[in-house]
Amino acid sequence: MADAPKSFFLTPEIHDYLVAHAPGLDDVQRDLIAETEKLGGISMMQIAPEQGAFMTNLTKIVGVKYAIEVGTFTGYSSIAIARGLVEGGHLLCCDVNEEWTSIARRYWERAGLEDRIVLKLGPALDTLRAIPPEHQIDLAFIDADKPNYKAYYEELLAHLRPNGVILVDNTLWGGSVIDPKADDGNLHAIREFNDYVAADDRVEGSILTIGDGLTLLRKK
Ligand SMILES: C[S@@+](CC[C@H](N)C(=O)[O-])C[C@H]1O[C@@H](n2cnc3c(N)ncnc32)[C@H](O)[C@@H]1O
Repeated sequence: MADAPKSFFLTPEIHDYLVAHAPGLDDVQRDLIAETEKLGGISMMQIAPEQGAFMTNLTKIVGVKYAIEVGTFTGYSSIAIARGLVEGGHLLCCDVNEEWTSIARRYWERAGLEDRIVLKLGPALDTLRAIPPEHQIDLAFIDADKPNYKAYYEELLAHLRPNGVILVDNTLWGGSVIDPKADDGNLHAIREFNDYVAADDRVEGSILTIGDGLTLLRKK
């Protein structure tokens, strides 16, 4: 049986069933999960395999040529997106951490994705604000520091083509979003973000019960 599922609302048994009926992992994914686990508790920042499979499929469905990821860590989600890109597609990855993303770089190479992915090290807001206004993207994934979620969303939405998609991770925050006694900076930011996009007429979407909550928004 797997460890406690990241999809906290599933029983371990249902989670096992779901994993057994999802695409299997290849050596690159398996080794990346194992290497990330060696980093200790922070390995829980990695997205769940079933979320990766969903993101690859969604990237294919949308026909993504240009994508941006905010929060790369050791690379699992970037590989999921990059594998779904159309021929000639590119993914811009934003992160501040050289050590973690050096692991990602190694796995991009192993997966044969190094030509599709560009990593920009530095605060993601600076990276996003430096993108030329005319550059259009088809898909974005937000999975970095929570207090900046709204700012990332605004920057990315400005570049998103109509019917393009923004995915946002951890929007159920382990279920704490509905706990009136729970409060900290991250949770506050997540709640504020969820309220903000739910009232935003520029997009249409919902929170999916995948992993720790994955918001899927389509630009109208
Ligand atoms: C939750 S992890 C990303 C997990 C990753 N998506 C995966 O599947 O493994 C968050 C990442 O955001 C990065 N980060 C935090 N603050 C940032 C900032 N201001 N700008 C860019 N990246 C940031 C961290 O270095 C970390 O690698």
